[in-house]
Amino acid sequence: MERTLVLIKPDGVRRNIIGDVISRIERKGLKIAALELRTLDEETAKTHYEEHTDKPFFPSLVEFITGGPLVAMVVEGNRAVEAFRSLAGTTDPIAAAPGTIRGDYGLDVQANIVHGSDSTYSAEREIKLFFPDLA
Ligand code: CMP
Repeated sequence: MERTLVLIKPDGVRRNIIGDVISRIERKGLKIAALELRTLDEETAKTHYEEHTDKPFFPSLVEFITGGPLVAMVVEGNRAVEAFRSLAGTTDPIAAAPGTIRGDYGLDVQANIVHGSDSTYSAEREIKLFFPDLA
């Protein structure tokens, strides 16, 4: 069984679409294995997004992701990493297909509603960071 880390980012929480995102995940047949509402501290945010450290948008990304509560989830199921990324749509919500989470809700490449791990390797690292007590 594969697992992935999903975040409903502060913009998604602010817009009251937690229920819809979770419902789409469940409708697809994926399972929520862990879930927490929390506000990220700067250090955790920087570690989570460490591969983007050198990008020009990094400081603004850290400010955005720490700017309010988010929902962190471990989602599991058959090919969960790819399954959730397909539900989420492409990073830029304007390019994301209608019917996907980003395609239905977003206009902003930074405030793009959700995050999903981009590989099983990233998923393992990110799940450890958010849910260190999970086996
Ligand atoms: P996510 O899938 O969480 O991974 C990296 C995040 O960086 C991405 O979603 C966006 O929130 C953000 N991001 C990616 N590209 C840009 C960009 N060009 N400008 C601002 N933020 C970006």
